[in-house]
Amino acid sequence: MAELDRRAVLGLTACLAACPREVAARPGDAQLAYPDVPLAIDDMPAGGLRLLMLRGKPVFVRRLDAPQLARRRAEESHGQPRPNDEWVVRSGICTHAGCDLAAGLGPRGGLGCPCHGSQFDERGAVVRGPATRPLREPRHLIANGKLTLLESAGS
Ligand code: FES
Repeated sequence: MAELDRRAVLGLTACLAACPREVAARPGDAQLAYPDVPLAIDDMPAGGLRLLMLRGKPVFVRRLDAPQLARRRAEESHGQPRPNDEWVVRSGICTHAGCDLAAGLGPRGGLGCPCHGSQFDERGAVVRGPATRPLREPRHLIANGKLTLLESAGS
């Protein structure tokens, strides 16, 4: 089975169980991304999740919904907005042993790992092991409604 097909089956299974609403993050729906090429993301609704494939590696882009954004601001910036804080860009590779993560397997629409059950919240923090490290944040820029994954983002 081709790698993307395998991911599609895993993702579809996960989404049938518990995908966040407005989600388009099944691996079969993955959008190709290229280093240093801006990608429009401002069409994503609040609560939306999108899967990008950068050099064959998964990257998740999330637009936080109002409760998620309020939680982030309360925990990270004393309730104050920061530029682009509605966006979360995280590697879709599990920090335990490198499996691809699936949408809908973590709490509050977070990501989960089909290999050994690690779960990550909507900002990529570990909520259940065996993983101990948060998801990596690929180097990126967000400006004018566009996301640019930088050249070194996938390495
Ligand atoms: S590789 Fe993800 S939990 Fe082990």
